[in-house]
Amino acid sequence: MNTKSLFVDPEFAEGCEAMLIHLYGSFEIYEHQAWGPLLFQEYYAGKTVVDLGCGTGTSTKSILKFNPTCIIGIDGSDTLLTVARRITDKRAEFRKAWAERLTDTVKESVDTVVAIQSFAYFEKPLRVLKQVYHCLNAGGHFLFDTCIQNQPLQTLSAIAQEAFANAAESHGIELQITPPEKPAQPVHSEDSIRKLVAETNFEIASYTEKDNRYSQQQVLACLTPGITSFEEHMYRMTGDKDFSLSLGVCARANIQRNTPEQYLFQRNAFVILKKR
Ligand SMILES: C[S@@+](CC[C@H](N)C(=O)[O-])C[C@H]1O[C@@H](n2cnc3c(N)ncnc32)[C@H](O)[C@@H]1O
Repeated sequence: MNTKSLFVDPEFAEGCEAMLIHLYGSFEIYEHQAWGPLLFQEYYAGKTVVDLGCGTGTSTKSILKFNPTCIIGIDGSDTLLTVARRITDKRAEFRKAWAERLTDTVKESVDTVVAIQSFAYFEKPLRVLKQVYHCLNAGGHFLFDTCIQNQPLQTLSAIAQEAFANAAESHGIELQITPPEKPAQPVHSEDSIRKLVAETNFEIASYTEKDNRYSQQQVLACLTPGITSFEEHMYRMTGDKDFSLSLGVCARANIQRNTPEQYLFQRNAFVILKKR
């Protein structure tokens, strides 16, 4: 039996992406609404950029649309970088590195470092801030959002976990619901961000609170058979009907367990720091 983390499963990632497209109508609208740092195009056009925690390269691909001079995608996961290399063009270069040791790998200075949906995962955020500072040109910027991880993967109900485990087991796969190497991080508050930044030479160029959570009802609606493309997409990806349906079942079971007040994603802020 092999072990497979959902987080490093490109098929699962693409299934989630299909769900988001369904929610937002188009992936581009989702990107701009949910990935705050992408709203600030002036930090990418004609700039040298590092995409920190680029994962499967979806953020890198989006930034490429704004025509950076060059972009280096950095992630700690080789598996994800394999997907990133596949979905982007030659203007993007990818290097495996942990953000906490960025300067070991990125020797050049760049205009912009961006961390989209990844800052909350960094175990040593102050260390990362200092590493990023080192990689930036004078006057360069570090953009990031302070979102938490998506809750369904962290808080799957017992019934959903069982459905997931059964589906996976029938395929000889042992699924890890929570990536053991990167447990959920607490949300960064404005206060904690300001305290962190105060320990560096960065100045806060902007701090924007943006509540663009979407509710479980919205997600539930898109997971309802007949409306959703989620299971269909999973089926196209995996070619396995039972497995695809099980994914939909556990997503629904998990969402229904929650109270209406709970949300699947919660973002705190989009932060732009400037190197003095
Ligand atoms: C939610 S994904 C975001 C990926 C991408 N930026 C996007 O928006 O699609 C978070 C990524 O951060 C990476 N990551 C987490 N901690 C990291 C660290 N300390 N150093 C480098 N990458 C890290 C994970 O491997 C994962 O690919």
